[in-house]
Amino acid sequence: MLSREEYIQISLENNLFWTRIMKEHAIFIESVLTPPLKEVSMQADEFKRIFEELLANTMELANETISMEALQSGEFYTRFTDEAERLTQQFTGIEIDRNLTYTVNIMEPSTIGMEMTEEKEKEVSWLNQNIISQLTDFLQFKANLLSGQASCNAKSLEYTSILEHVLEEGRKYMEILTTLQDREMPADEHLVSSQEEFFWNMIMSDHAKIMRGKFDPVEIHFFNEANRFAKIYDTLTSLTWENDEVEEPLINVHDVTSDFRDFKAFTTQGIIECKVSSVMMPLFTDHILREANHYLRLMTK
Ligand SMILES: [Fe+2]
Ligand SMILES: [Fe+2]
Repeated sequence: MLSREEYIQISLENNLFWTRIMKEHAIFIESVLTPPLKEVSMQADEFKRIFEELLANTMELANETISMEALQSGEFYTRFTDEAERLTQQFTGIEIDRNLTYTVNIMEPSTIGMEMTEEKEKEVSWLNQNIISQLTDFLQFKANLLSGQASCNAKSLEYTSILEHVLEEGRKYMEILTTLQDREMPADEHLVSSQEEFFWNMIMSDHAKIMRGKFDPVEIHFFNEANRFAKIYDTLTSLTWENDEVEEPLINVHDVTSDFRDFKAFTTQGIIECKVSSVMMPLFTDHILREANHYLRLMTK
């Protein structure tokens, strides 16, 4: 059973990370839909707006409430996020509320001895419930899009496996929220089981493969580097799932993820400065960079 303090803090830290991730999924989906899917595109834009609002609500409650470690982890924003948003808005024509990034930048952590009131617990509970309701619709939307494309009834300009990937991330967020609403500790928080590690290593593996498939073919160095990470995470997922009994794996997950995080940062900078050619939006590489930072923080908790 979570204490009131734990419930409030863990809820708000997760919401601060995940509502931004969800609104960006909506942006990425909207940016790859072709003209016949205009109606779907409008729905994606509406989900972007909804999750921007939920992020704004979260920020109001999270200021002076969440931990310093979370605020400094680089999972809510990075040094690239503002510029990545500006460019992605320019390239896609999709409006992005950049004030949210400015505001998260100036948020303050909780102070020692700060009281978490019953009133605040109620507000957080209401927020979580509201997110669960919107997320249920967004998961259905993602699942419809995925099944339409997987059965070749519809086609976006995105890989089917990426549609599956964003659906899986949404499901993970739902699992965290429902556990929190039962006042239990989400398994994800301390990566308590091999399933949690497996999930995040699969996510990293997907990122590596997505990057590998989205660099311009002339970017041989970047392609090879992404491929190297894909192979490492494939090895790690076979270690953490199929073979639970394996003792210390030879690969250090933290070190690899830290290197992969640096590669994502280097790529984001290269795309922003027009030094790396790819079909990835700068906000996309910044997004997966933040997901790596999130995983790194979970590993060190
Ligand atoms: Fe994501
Ligand atoms: Fe991801």
